[in-house]
Amino acid sequence: MTEATEGIICRRLVGRTAVVTGAGSGIGLATARRLASEGAHVVCADVDGPRGRAAAEEVGGLFVEADVTDPEQVEALFKAAYDTYGSVDVAFNNAGISPPDDDSILDTGLEAWKRVQDVNLTSVFLCCKAAIPYMRRQGRGSIINTASFVARMGAATSQISYTASKGGVLAMSRELGVQFAREGIRVNALCPGPVNTPLLRELFAKDPERAARRLVHIPVGRFAEADEIAAAVAFLASDDSSFVNASDFLVDGGISGAYVTPV
Ligand SMILES: NC(=O)c1ccc[n+]([C@@H]2O[C@H](COP(=O)([O-])OP(=O)(O)OC[C@H]3O[C@@H](n4cnc5c(N)ncnc54)[C@H](O)[C@@H]3O)[C@@H](O)[C@H]2O)c1
Repeated sequence: MTEATEGIICRRLVGRTAVVTGAGSGIGLATARRLASEGAHVVCADVDGPRGRAAAEEVGGLFVEADVTDPEQVEALFKAAYDTYGSVDVAFNNAGISPPDDDSILDTGLEAWKRVQDVNLTSVFLCCKAAIPYMRRQGRGSIINTASFVARMGAATSQISYTASKGGVLAMSRELGVQFAREGIRVNALCPGPVNTPLLRELFAKDPERAARRLVHIPVGRFAEADEIAAAVAFLASDDSSFVNASDFLVDGGISGAYVTPV
């Protein structure tokens, strides 16, 4: 909960089952906490056993160790959610990587390209493919796929496969949102701006110039907190967003709308 939402009791997800991939850290962890606080049964999936298990224990949910690039493990994940709680109402397909060997197109090898496509894009394909049949049977569901503001904006500090993978997530989410709209399933792509996660903090603590180069583009003058992204996911997961579908849901502090920012 952020300071702004502290004291407001939101219980929009009572009785709903939410699968969160990458629940062991960062945005996924903040979202697992938020969805649980709103009453959802949360299924925490992560390839990192100890972190994923700790997240599930904290939120009173179910842990499923799963590598989201593996079709059988993804199938088993959604089946476990359904078998344990009786429905699959929300899929937050969020696990992703941003490794240092994914860089300028001039320096990025095919292996790094493929690895990032697998974890960031193929995983979302697999998770949607596994979740949608449950949602069709229920006639209800909300899928939120984590893309990024870099799917909408170019950067001279390139991570070429990452950017392309997030563009793929955006286009795929839009298409699925259109295809399944009349079956009660909404699919949105969440596009966070840079978020203050341990990874980002470590990177920028070592290189303050790198942080400054990015901060100058953010109208609000700071990076997002993971809780602020989780709040947007909770909205998209809930019926409060019943007419939000096939969208590029930007939570970027105004980055993508800015030309000149305040000093
Ligand atoms: N942090 C940012 O600034 C930012 C901005 C925009 C979008 N995003 C996106 O948000 C998502 C979450 O990012 P984060 O910053 O919270 O990252 P994070 O590294 O803190 O957490 C990612 C989690 O995903 C898990 N994971 C990685 N590969 C996996 C796999 N193959 N199978 C299952 N789990 C796997 C990791 O173990 C980890 O727990 C990613 O898709 C990322 O691209 C992040």
